[in-house]
Amino acid sequence: MKQEILSNEEVAPGIFRMGIAIWKRIQSACPGQFVHIRCSSTFEPLLRRPLSIHEIDSNEVKLLYKVIGSGTKLLSEKKPGEKLDIVGPLGHGFNVEPSPESVMIVAGGIGAAPVLFLAHFLKAARKQVLIGARTGELILYEEEFKKLGFSVEVTTDDGSYGKKGLVSSLFEEFLKRETPAIVYACGPVALLKEVADTCGNCGIPCQVSIENQMACGVGACLGCVIKTKEKDGSTIYRRVCKDGPVFDASIVSWESLI
Ligand SMILES: Cc1cc2nc3c(=O)[nH]c(=O)nc-3n(C[C@H](O)[C@H](O)[C@H](O)COP(=O)(O)OP(=O)(O)OC[C@H]3O[C@@H](n4cnc5c(N)ncnc54)[C@H](O)[C@@H]3O)c2cc1C
Ligand code: FES
Repeated sequence: MKQEILSNEEVAPGIFRMGIAIWKRIQSACPGQFVHIRCSSTFEPLLRRPLSIHEIDSNEVKLLYKVIGSGTKLLSEKKPGEKLDIVGPLGHGFNVEPSPESVMIVAGGIGAAPVLFLAHFLKAARKQVLIGARTGELILYEEEFKKLGFSVEVTTDDGSYGKKGLVSSLFEEFLKRETPAIVYACGPVALLKEVADTCGNCGIPCQVSIENQMACGVGACLGCVIKTKEKDGSTIYRRVCKDGPVFDASIVSWESLI
């Protein structure tokens, strides 16, 4: 399907936000689901690139992406008015029902992309978000989370904004004061593992959004599988594109991802 690009702006160094004209199927998307994009009209790059749904309003879908390699570089050069070959929504997103008393979101780096959309769906009385990035200029959407009723705490690796340090350490400190009923996390796999381990030790349910290389994006090629555990401890491979990208953190075999 080809949709019109409405905007494409650099919102922080190397990070772009793209607005795309809405289509019918995407209007019922769940937070954590993604779209699959052909970044060029040639065979280079051949494979589509997955990007999470960042926001949806009455007339556009927004994506937030970091320029990594050839695909995202090509995307960053697209202009409003051009058409984009895009498929979605795809995958299994965050489970937001039933709404518990208190929720916590932990977002690292470009992990902020799917969690702002998630924040719109969370109805808990107490809502907290911890955002971490390398530097202050990469901290996005603090105000937007506040408007949605979230208490916001920020860390940067270099201490240029918020508290100096890693968002995983802020999360551990937070748990000494309060225990959220559920944690949602998105970001680099090392962060997800730390959050998953901490939640496991404290008995807090945790959902994580996992990134992996993808080919078909619809569950057919098995190119995106990760190792997970069954309740009896046996190993089972699950597809990030179809069974995920959001998983219950307790079933992920983190050692195989690090
Ligand atoms: C479900 C899902 C949602 C994602 N959502 C976002 C998002 O909202 N914003 C964002 O900036 N990034 C997101 N990513 C990561 C994004 O897909 C990659 O950064 C992008 O595919 C890199 O493509 P490239 O051609 O620029 O880089 P290249 O390095 O040239 O890509 C080479 C290959 O590696 C794959 N690849 C590289 N990095 C990643 C990665 N981190 N995860 C998965 N595949 C990768 C590409 O798909 C491609 O097949 C998401 C990944 C997944 C799996
Ligand atoms: S990318 Fe083909 S099965 Fe997931």
